[in-house]
Amino acid sequence: MPKKVYIRTFGCQMNVSDSGMMINVLKAAGFEESASVESADIVIFNSCSVRQHAEDRMFSNLGLAMKKNPSAGFVLAGCTAARCGGGIFDRFPRLGAVVGPSEIFKIASVAKQVIGGEKVTAVGEGDYPVVERAGGVSEYVVIQRGCDNFCSYCLVPRLRGKESCRPPSEILREINCLAESGTKEVILLGQNVNSYRGAGNIKDFPALLSAVSAVEGIKRIRFLTSHPKDLSDGLIEKMAENPTIAKHIHLPVQSGSTRILKLMNRNYTREDYLLRAAKLKKRIPSISITTDVIVGFPSETDDDFEETLSLIREVSFDGVFVFKYSPREGTAAEELPDDVGNDEKKRRLEKVLVLAKELSKKSRRSWVGADAEVLFEKDGVGHSSQNFLVLMEGARKGNLRKAAIKGTSKWCLIA
Ligand code: 5AD
Ligand code: SF4
Repeated sequence: MPKKVYIRTFGCQMNVSDSGMMINVLKAAGFEESASVESADIVIFNSCSVRQHAEDRMFSNLGLAMKKNPSAGFVLAGCTAARCGGGIFDRFPRLGAVVGPSEIFKIASVAKQVIGGEKVTAVGEGDYPVVERAGGVSEYVVIQRGCDNFCSYCLVPRLRGKESCRPPSEILREINCLAESGTKEVILLGQNVNSYRGAGNIKDFPALLSAVSAVEGIKRIRFLTSHPKDLSDGLIEKMAENPTIAKHIHLPVQSGSTRILKLMNRNYTREDYLLRAAKLKKRIPSISITTDVIVGFPSETDDDFEETLSLIREVSFDGVFVFKYSPREGTAAEELPDDVGNDEKKRRLEKVLVLAKELSKKSRRSWVGADAEVLFEKDGVGHSSQNFLVLMEGARKGNLRKAAIKGTSKWCLIA
């Protein structure tokens, strides 16, 4: 009987992509995917360390899963594995392995060792193999891993290592392979995709976008996440002129106060960000811009927070993800006093949520009566170029087509 594996994924798209890679590697080694913890021989938690609270919740879920299936082997993978290392075995004696994000390609041999009763710690550096794979309509493609930026609040550079870019030839080989198997859309992933450095003719991110758009069968390219400090005019022009590139950018601002941005080590000012956003909208009028915001960073005053609200209003984001600041061990910001109380963080979070909801509603409503270009990932369900979810009866999976938007609902556009 093939062994069954269940993977639960937390955190960002990079983790979603890593989980997909683990599934591919495990299947190639003869494992089968299991639909539940109860029926699995191996249970993998692919974890995220960005915020303490989410990590605590993940740990309590891990404890619950261990109770649900006392005979399975358990693996902690991803960012929290890199953060905790082998020390986590003391807290979870039932855990069989910790596998950091740079070593997850070893997951099949790790899983076999765990089934054999061994304890495995794999939290070092590693080289990713090129995994040739067949794809669905829309697929993630990692172009860059790690991060050299050291935003003061962020653990990622410590967990995912130094920034490294995959060579263009390797990326294009993977995308060609996906396209041949029917993939229509690729979502290029990197911690700072727009800082991508390639080689030869494809030396930077705009050049990579051109090369990917030339791959036969690829009808749409998305990418995330972009860093505002590296949002070049060249990228804006490329997005404006190349119809294969989706009209959407996720551009985390984090704060609207230049003073706080400086403390965050973001390397841009409020004005820089506003200028970039204005330029994007001028060159690409239909673009949607989404962002991440942290509230309650150390020393954030009411005035700083008001600046964040006013920036959100001025850019009129199509979507905002907002987080309460969470001090993380080993980051530069951990040295600063976490002096905005939890109640105040909560109040600020709520205020951003209310404003964000109002703006995203406005942005969805503005599509009523217009034509959106939609790629259908399933029959009847797709995403517009601007990344809105679109429902359209009768639309077929894999089709890219114009859809006349008739109405909106809480989450989507209806065609
Ligand atoms: N506290 C709160 N939010 C954080 N993020 C990253 N680190 C922290 C932290 N320590 C948020 C940022 C980032 C998103 C992925 O998570 O907004 O863009
Ligand atoms: Fe993704 Fe960062 Fe969370 Fe790791 S810590 S899963 S890189 S968001």
